Amino acid sequence: MAPLLTKLVVSFILSTLFLTMVNSEPECRNLRSIISFGDSTADTGNLLGLSDPNDHPQVALPPYGETFFHHPTGRFSNGRLIIDFIAEFLGLPLVPPFYGSQNANFEKGVNFAVGGATALKRSFLEERGIHFPYTNVSLGVQLSSFKESLPKLCGSPSDCRDMIENALILMGEIGGNDYNYAFFVEKSIEEVKELVPLVIRTISSAITELIGMGGKTFLVPGEFPMGCSVVYLTIYHTANMEEYDPLTGCLKLLNKFGEYHNEQLQVELNRLQKLYPRVNIIYADYYNVLSSIFQEPAKFGFINRPLSACCGFGGPYNDTVGKKCGTDVVEGCSDPSKYVAWDGVHLTEAAYSLIAEGILSGPYTIPPFDWSCLSSRKIKNNGGSSDTGNSLRSN
Ligand SMILES: *[C@@H]1O[C@H](CO)[C@@H](O)[C@H](O)[C@H]1NC(C)=O
Ligand SMILES: *[C@@H]1O[C@H](CO)[C@@H](O)[C@H](O)[C@H]1NC(C)=O
Repeated sequence: MAPLLTKLVVSFILSTLFLTMVNSEPECRNLRSIISFGDSTADTGNLLGLSDPNDHPQVALPPYGETFFHHPTGRFSNGRLIIDFIAEFLGLPLVPPFYGSQNANFEKGVNFAVGGATALKRSFLEERGIHFPYTNVSLGVQLSSFKESLPKLCGSPSDCRDMIENALILMGEIGGNDYNYAFFVEKSIEEVKELVPLVIRTISSAITELIGMGGKTFLVPGEFPMGCSVVYLTIYHTANMEEYDPLTGCLKLLNKFGEYHNEQLQVELNRLQKLYPRVNIIYADYYNVLSSIFQEPAKFGFINRPLSACCGFGGPYNDTVGKKCGTDVVEGCSDPSKYVAWDGVHLTEAAYSLIAEGILSGPYTIPPFDWSCLSSRKIKNNGGSSDTGNSLRSN
């Protein structure tokens, strides 16, 4: 071989070797956007955008949005959601809703999460007797919308791959409504449990599909402690104290159910992580941040036993079936920052801020994730949690 050629071949081999070594290091990416799928816990305005202008959902009315935004934005809370705090933390704009906002700039984020959305298809749930009057924009529909909109969002296939590779993909929370609707039509806990593997398979397929499209960083939240949720505490209210966790006042059986979903989800995420070692698949433990709050609410600046809705009416938990925040209740409590529950189903900005802090500053992700290596993050501790007065580190 001619000396020059040998030299070229050797340097080619060396550089390939070097590249391979560099590539197998855990990557610290500059996250340039957020792509989100889910339900009302991450909806920044989609349900509102999809709704009939003459028949707005409750979330179009005050006091939704009274804190921070000072007007309803379509978020199911008094203020910001977890996704908003994540965007602020990454130095990105708040993620605009995709549906009904044709002219929005989606360069730094796009949100497909719709209030009331299920993981499983509507037709699938209906076949099982689970009927619901809410949105049919299930996870699969959201993913289809994303794929169909790619030419508009990012142009060429290679630009799209680049966008997806450098995005934080927030996959959920999703699945909670599948269980809610099943419980609301009085399915037994055993019957609802049968949905868990199906919900998890749906989430897992969505992640796998997005990995195929270039996805590299996934944040996948588990369920909230459902037994601490106002709506369940109200409909399953019982004189039998055995059913309540004495420490928190939450319903034990429903919390066990949420834990079951979360365990199964983590098993599946571990399997995916092994299959795709170059991808970051991070489990967001919303459940345990909230558990710690319900166990010691005063430590985080909340009222004692914060199980009642801030915006509600009557009953032991300030919630009555048929009396909705926004539609029937036009004013929230005087200090929402002291409440965990905003309405019958959703949480206050103060609670969402603490959950975001638990995920972004630790220790509530599995595996632990070093967000500080993300160079697009402009300002340290811009999580916004300090301005609500509640802090995970307030002990
Ligand atoms: C969802 O519902 C709307 C109207 O309520 C309907 O037009 C649409 O076809 C449905 N989509 C799916 C995927 O079922
Ligand atoms: C119940 O909700 C109403 C209306 O938002 C609020 O004014 C009140 O303070 C709440 N009550 C309790 C006990 O939390």
